[in-house]
Amino acid sequence: MALMNCKLAIVYSSVTGNTEEVASILYTASKQNFTDVSLYPVHNFPMKKLEEFDAIMVGTYTWGNGEIPREMVAVYKAFEHANKKNIVTGVFGTGDSFYPHFCGAVDAFKNMLFVNTTLAATLKIELTPQDGDLKRCFQFVESIARRVSPLMV
Ligand SMILES: Cc1cc2nc3c(=O)[nH]c(=O)nc-3n(C[C@H](O)[C@H](O)[C@H](O)COP(=O)(O)O)c2cc1C
Repeated sequence: MALMNCKLAIVYSSVTGNTEEVASILYTASKQNFTDVSLYPVHNFPMKKLEEFDAIMVGTYTWGNGEIPREMVAVYKAFEHANKKNIVTGVFGTGDSFYPHFCGAVDAFKNMLFVNTTLAATLKIELTPQDGDLKRCFQFVESIARRVSPLMV
């Protein structure tokens, strides 16, 4: 199948590697769909060039009591402070259902991205991705692709 002409960024934060693992699965799956895919640990993400991307996947773990990790706050604010409805987004993350607010940071991003961007998909994974999560990762990428395609014509 022909690749979709789309500039996609995956930006994520990870301390113990779980979210990084999901990001790298999504990176592999995305390269099967889109022409231009970049994977950025949050500190390398070109925040000021947000609007150059057709699609952005945001990946975050959850900290504190269901909170966004400190290093992801700048990403949150970058989306929050402008209307970016032309950017298709998805948010993914890992969390631990032992905590009262499982993947709270994913929910916080989801609510904000729904208002400010074209949010296409959400994905929450319990700690390290398991074999059964692979399909959900591919479905996440497909949901992004379906929303990007009408915007590309
Ligand atoms: C101090 C602390 C607080 C946490 N709070 C939450 C939480 O509120 N909700 C949740 O789902 N997971 C919570 N977690 C679990 C992490 O989000 C989870 O282990 C995640 O997979 C870590 O991602 P990483 O491996 O990409 O760093 C917490 C972990 C720690 C150490």
